[in-house]
Amino acid sequence: MELGLDGDTVVVTASSAGLGRASAAALADEGANVVVCGRDPERLAATESELGDLDGDVLGVETDITNKGDVEALVEAAVEEFGGVDHVVTSAGGVPPGGFADLTEREWYGAFDMLVMSAVWTVRAARPHLEASDVGTITCITSTSVKEVIDDLILSNAVRRGVIGLVKSLSRELAPGVRVNAVLPGAHETSRIEELVEAAVERGDHDTYEEGLDSWSDGIPLGRVGDPRELGDVVAFLASDRASFVTGACVPVDGGRLRSA
Ligand SMILES: NC(=O)c1ccc[n+]([C@@H]2O[C@H](COP(=O)([O-])OP(=O)(O)OC[C@H]3O[C@@H](n4cnc5c(N)ncnc54)[C@H](OP(=O)(O)O)[C@@H]3O)[C@@H](O)[C@H]2O)c1
Repeated sequence: MELGLDGDTVVVTASSAGLGRASAAALADEGANVVVCGRDPERLAATESELGDLDGDVLGVETDITNKGDVEALVEAAVEEFGGVDHVVTSAGGVPPGGFADLTEREWYGAFDMLVMSAVWTVRAARPHLEASDVGTITCITSTSVKEVIDDLILSNAVRRGVIGLVKSLSRELAPGVRVNAVLPGAHETSRIEELVEAAVERGDHDTYEEGLDSWSDGIPLGRVGDPRELGDVVAFLASDRASFVTGACVPVDGGRLRSA
């Protein structure tokens, strides 16, 4: 399917690894210019170089998405390099696991900055450019936790729902010029999951990495965790004109794990 993204410019937050990177790769494969970011300069440089082999141009900008000034500079860098911004894809870092009794007030505010304010700051900075584009879109990467709570992840369960409220509100406020959607990833084998599996093997919960990864497949009808690219391809589709009548949607990409519609 021709997605028609060739030459468009996309800012993807938290994208030097994981789901953000996979989304940037899917978009660059379609010929879009992608602006990727992260805090670790070495990881960012490696991603910038690897994605540079794809069809679109790539710009890496060292950014802490919990810092408003950094996010504004990220969007400015995109405009300076490519002349505008047609699409925004928001991903984020992880937030601390735990239940209600485990978390400090500071961690609640930190999760709000990481998950909600990073998206708010990105959209605020990019909005004039998205509105000036003929094809403006925003796609927020969240989690299946916005539909069904996940045990021991109360910050994700509670705070990410703010992103869905943002998506639903923006899909109405910015229509008809800018489409706004969310994707809800289930388990995908990113560096975050790799670290969790390796830690479980070290603790002795599993004998091998493969066995540990298999345990993440429990309850997934398709019987496996996702490849991050399977999320990235859905992000690229939603940003494209092939999804021209899709806005305000929350699309699970979870191998069928969610039981609710
Ligand atoms: N993987 C899954 O199965 C899954 C499922 C549902 C939801 N999610 C959520 O999706 C998001 C991405 O997860 P992932 O698995 O892709 O994680 P990941 O593999 O650890 O990648 C996270 C990316 O975000 C960047 N990042 C982290 N904190 C940042 C910050 N403050 N400013 C800028 N960049 C930052 C990291 O680079 P630096 O560390 O260098 O900054 C890295 O590029 C997380 O919120 C996660 O909870 C993941």
